[in-house]
Amino acid sequence: MTDHVTALLDELDLEEKVSLVHGAIDPAGTATGYLPGVERLDIPPLRLVDGPVGVRIPGRKATAFPASLALAASFDPSLGREQGAAMGREANAHDQDVLLGPGTNIVRVPHCGRNFEYFSEDPVHSLSFARAVVEGIQSEDVLACVKHYVANNQETNRTTVDVAVDERTLRELYLPAFRAAVDAGVGSVMAAYNAVDGTPMSEHERLLRGVLKDEWGFDGFVTSDWFGTEDAVRSATGGLDVEMPGISGEAFAALVGMDDGENDQSGESDGGMPDMANIARFEANLAAAIEAGDVPRERLDDMVARVLTGMKRIGRLDGERPEGSLDAPAHRTLAERIAVRGTVLLANDGVLPLDDDADVALVGSNVDTAILGGGGSSEVTPFVRSSPADGVTERADGDVTVAHGLPPIADPSFFDATTSEDGETAASDDRSIDDAVEAARGADTAVVFVRDRATEARDRPDLRLPGEQDDLIEAVAEATDRTVVVINSSGPVELPWREEVGAIIENWYPGQAHGDAIASVLYGDSDPGGRLPVTFAAESAYPTATTARFPGEGGVVKYTEGRLVGYRHFEATEHEAVYPFGHGRSYAAFAYRDAEQVDGSTVRVTVENTSSRAGREVVQAYVRSTGAGRADEPRRELAGFASVRVPAGESVAVDIDLHKQAFVRYGDDGWRNSEGPFVVDVARSATDRRLSVDLRRE
Ligand code: NOJ
Repeated sequence: MTDHVTALLDELDLEEKVSLVHGAIDPAGTATGYLPGVERLDIPPLRLVDGPVGVRIPGRKATAFPASLALAASFDPSLGREQGAAMGREANAHDQDVLLGPGTNIVRVPHCGRNFEYFSEDPVHSLSFARAVVEGIQSEDVLACVKHYVANNQETNRTTVDVAVDERTLRELYLPAFRAAVDAGVGSVMAAYNAVDGTPMSEHERLLRGVLKDEWGFDGFVTSDWFGTEDAVRSATGGLDVEMPGISGEAFAALVGMDDGENDQSGESDGGMPDMANIARFEANLAAAIEAGDVPRERLDDMVARVLTGMKRIGRLDGERPEGSLDAPAHRTLAERIAVRGTVLLANDGVLPLDDDADVALVGSNVDTAILGGGGSSEVTPFVRSSPADGVTERADGDVTVAHGLPPIADPSFFDATTSEDGETAASDDRSIDDAVEAARGADTAVVFVRDRATEARDRPDLRLPGEQDDLIEAVAEATDRTVVVINSSGPVELPWREEVGAIIENWYPGQAHGDAIASVLYGDSDPGGRLPVTFAAESAYPTATTARFPGEGGVVKYTEGRLVGYRHFEATEHEAVYPFGHGRSYAAFAYRDAEQVDGSTVRVTVENTSSRAGREVVQAYVRSTGAGRADEPRRELAGFASVRVPAGESVAVDIDLHKQAFVRYGDDGWRNSEGPFVVDVARSATDRRLSVDLRRE
């Protein structure tokens, strides 16, 4: 604790201390969560704002970056650092102090409504991005708030569900990204809504006080998720430091622009939002609990000290705040660059890249819409946006014909009960699949844009594309043999038509630069730099395909698949992925040679671009033990990766750092090194392995 914080603690009275650990109404009306400060001691207010893909203030604008999953598909954490720093600058420009992100829950359920806000199905991949984004945000003197700690892997019943997970699985799969955020010095952690092993995360003494604070040494503050506090005493003693938002549901709904009329959903009935009626546990009960001795005074001092220490770290206690910058040209280009780098070319029979002068039919219900993100607390309103139609029309030398084929599919909305499950709005007469087919016939190439609808507070009903989008693709593919499908989705979708089309691009939720970025990839101005951070498979093939594992039974969801999530599951079972983790194609072609160990934790491989165009390759290193492994143990784990640009015809030596997380196991006695000997497979995806290196551990 700094002297400054100690001195303030000496001065603060009980009421003031309590006021520093629960939210209040922000007089400026901008913060998602607000601590009022104490004027007499020059403690300024602290504003917390959503996150995680841009600064979200209803009625204000900010750069809408690609979804976190799109960023993660770049397999380049340095982009996460850049995005974090840009968001930090925008938070400062909006007078905010804490950005509520990154989200770093593991993608366990393929149709979880918030997968687009997370990074990956793999812990080493997730932790690499969690660390990078935290470092980026905090480099601008804004605190990051990593969320949602922990095991918030589904939206169905999210406020009530109890996650039954064994310690080893928790440690090896779900906790590492949070640990990495703590090691990176994250200022704040958001407790998840769900319970773990019977205890709500907002009062989970073992995981908050024990693991996070005592074991990992986290010195920042833990905030509740919004309206996610049930009991003041249990939370305070369990390790929660701040209750948010600390104001009535009505006041909050007005603040964030929700329609309170439709808001009246209790967590019990739909699992969406918790009961928002007047949850202000700390305000109502904490002072009395201190007086009664139910919460020790030292605990309150610790809570306050953690908040003040965070404010000190970013200069706020000394009246400092960087000016920041908003919608800077560099932020616009960064948003586009990340959208490009996260774009995954799933398949290509040569139809891509498009010729400059090709006549193109642009098909799809939403070709006029930039897909900014999913629904919920991450929605950002940008200053500029480019739709696929904007981007392609501007780039094309040939004719571009727009034929939607289907009615628009509405953006999913947090609380909107007015659109159908499929999101189709009322059919408009000028849109028919036949028109799209005709446009496709008249063009050299048809590019069909399809989308899913995902939102916080709800899981997708399934992995199908909503509405008649599959029919649209099939009809167009039948009419022309040059069909490209661009998918804008929050995670995996099923692709029943995949053998019938020429190329498939997974373009996620690309944010404000949607059109410019996708045009750049379609025409080959940029190589599609992305690889899948999540396995694509039929819904029934994932480990969560049983009711006990998702959405749970009797309020409990059992993580009995253990660590066999994502590609680990597909390797260990007879289930097949359609596109594996790590998959993605370049327009160039690469050959691998000379894989070798450089030191105890680095392997090097030479990657040659054997094509006549520059391209980007993502080299992946999976480690496996050749010793006797247990049946429930992952056979192979991602240990490191590197994204490299290789000029046409040239070779580059690529170093891949192997993360120690891939070499340890958690058991009854804590962490221990896994048993070797180890082999590192240098690969282009979880299944496309090119070279192997026998590893010497030093
Ligand atoms: C609930 C969400 O789970 C969390 O991610 C968000 O930051 C808060 N609401 C505030 O909007």
